[in-house]
Amino acid sequence: MQRNLLKISLLTASILTGNAFAANHEVTISANLQDRGAVINKDIYGQFAEHLGHGIYEGLWVGEDSEIPNTKGFRNDVVGALKDIKVPLIRWPGGCFADEYHWREGIGPKDERPVKVNTHWGGVEETNAVGTHEFFDLAELIGADVYINGNLGSGTVQEMAEWVEYMTSDKNSTLANERRANGREEPWDIKYFGIGNESWGCGGHMDPDYYVNLYRQYATFIKTPKGKRPLLVGSGGDTDNTEWTDVLSANIDRNMDGISYHFYTLPTSDWQKKGHATEFDNAMWFKTMERTYRMETYLKNNIDIMDKNDPDGKLGFYVDEWGTWYDAEEGREPGFLYQQNTLRDAVVTAVNLNLFHEYARRVHMTNIAQMVNVLQAMILTDGAKMVKTPTYHVYSMYTVFQDATSIPFKLDTSRYSMNGEDLPAVTGSLAMGTDGHMYLALVNMDPTEDADIDLNIDGKVNKTLSGSILTAGNITAKNTFDDQHNLEPKPFKASADKLVLPAKSVVVLTLN
Ligand code: AHR
Repeated sequence: MQRNLLKISLLTASILTGNAFAANHEVTISANLQDRGAVINKDIYGQFAEHLGHGIYEGLWVGEDSEIPNTKGFRNDVVGALKDIKVPLIRWPGGCFADEYHWREGIGPKDERPVKVNTHWGGVEETNAVGTHEFFDLAELIGADVYINGNLGSGTVQEMAEWVEYMTSDKNSTLANERRANGREEPWDIKYFGIGNESWGCGGHMDPDYYVNLYRQYATFIKTPKGKRPLLVGSGGDTDNTEWTDVLSANIDRNMDGISYHFYTLPTSDWQKKGHATEFDNAMWFKTMERTYRMETYLKNNIDIMDKNDPDGKLGFYVDEWGTWYDAEEGREPGFLYQQNTLRDAVVTAVNLNLFHEYARRVHMTNIAQMVNVLQAMILTDGAKMVKTPTYHVYSMYTVFQDATSIPFKLDTSRYSMNGEDLPAVTGSLAMGTDGHMYLALVNMDPTEDADIDLNIDGKVNKTLSGSILTAGNITAKNTFDDQHNLEPKPFKASADKLVLPAKSVVVLTLN
C-alpha cells in the first residue's frame, strides 16, 4: 500500500516537473508457456545488399587480388561476422538498382563486362565485377539463401525469363550450358524472386492496376525445374500506402507468394532534412521511436487488407526494406547513403523485430536496409578496418528467435511520453527457440526511465534469469574504427521476481 502511495506521488511529481522525478515504468507480461503461436520465419532476419555506395564494392567485395584477406574476392572479416549472426537470406541486386540491372552484363570474363553508370546512386561507374556468379559465391560463403530482385522497370519479359533459366536449369539448354561454361555446373536454388521494385517510384512510376497486368505477364514466364520455383514477390507499397497491397492481393490470384512493403525510419519524417545520425537530443530520440512504432499501424492495416482478400493466408507480407535513414554524412557522396549507427539504431531494431514477431503469421520475410556501409548497416568498413554496429549486436542477441515458435503473451506497459505524445515504453517478444528454451526479449524505448517488469507467467521459469543486455550511459553511444568495442552486449542477470529493464536498453533472457 505504502509502495503504491509512493508511486502515485512520484507520478504526480513527474507530471508536474516534466519527468524529472518520474517513477520507473510499470510493465506486466502475462503468458502461459504451454501456448503456441506462429513460427517466426528465420527469413525475418534477411538482409539487403544493393549495388549502392560501398555496400558491395569495398564493403563486401574487394577482389581476389586485394591485400585485404578474402575468399573468392569477398572479405573474410565481413563474411565471418555475417556468418556469426546467421544471416538467413540476402536480397540483391537492388532496390532501385534492380530495375536498371541487366544480368548478362554481369557474367563471363570480368575484363569483358561492360562498365555502366549507376544512375541512382552517385552516378559512379559500375564495373559489373560482382554479378550473378559472385553473388551466389557470397551467399554460399555466408550460408544464406538468396532473394534475387528481377528487372521489371527496364527489362523485358524474355530477359527475366532467361535469367531464371540460366540460374536454375538442370537441362542441356544453351543457357544452362553457358552457366556451366562460366564455372557453375549445378543449378542454383533461388528462394525468393522479386518482380520489380518500388514500381510506384524508381521502378517505373506505375499505378497498381497497370503493375498487376505486368506482374501477371512476367510471372507467367518464370519457369524452373519442378520443385525449384522460387517464392515470387509482387512489388508493393510503402509507408502509409495500403493501395498496392489491396490491388495486388485482390487481383493477382496465381504465381504470387507475397507482397513486398517498404518503410524507413526518418527521425524528422521529412525527406529533405531527415535528421543527424549521431547528434540528437531526447526529443529527436522520441521522434525516431514514434516514427519507428508507426510500423505497428502499417503492418496491421496491410495485414487486415490481406486477411480480407486472402482469407486462407496464402500470401506473405514481406517488409523487404526497412531501417533508419539519416542525412548523408558530411564530406561523403550523398548518393552513397553512408551513415553511422548508435544505441538509438539498436533500440529501433529491437522495436521492429518485436513487431515482426508479433505479426509473424503474415510477415514471413524482411530485409533490413542494408548489410554493409549503407543506411542502417550491420557493418561499416574503412579500408582494411571493420566495425560492428549496435544494430549488428541486436541481430546477434536475437538469433535465438530465428524459426522459434511464438508464445502468445499480453504486455501491459505504462507510456513513454514527450511533448504531448506517447508510446508504449516497453515492447517484447516471447518464443520457444528451436533448442527448446523459452526466450524473452524486451526493449525499453524510454531513454531516461527504467521499467519494473512483473512476470505473470504460467509455466516453469528459472528463479534467476540470465541473458544479455545492450545499453549505454549516453543515447548517442556508438562504435567507431578506433573504439570498436564501446557498445557491445554484456551479460545480464536478474531475479525473475525483481526484473528491472534499464532505460534505453535491449535485453534477451532465457526463461528456462
Ligand atoms: O535502400 C535504398 C533504396 O530505398 C532502394 O534502392 C529503394 O528500393 C528504396 O527507395
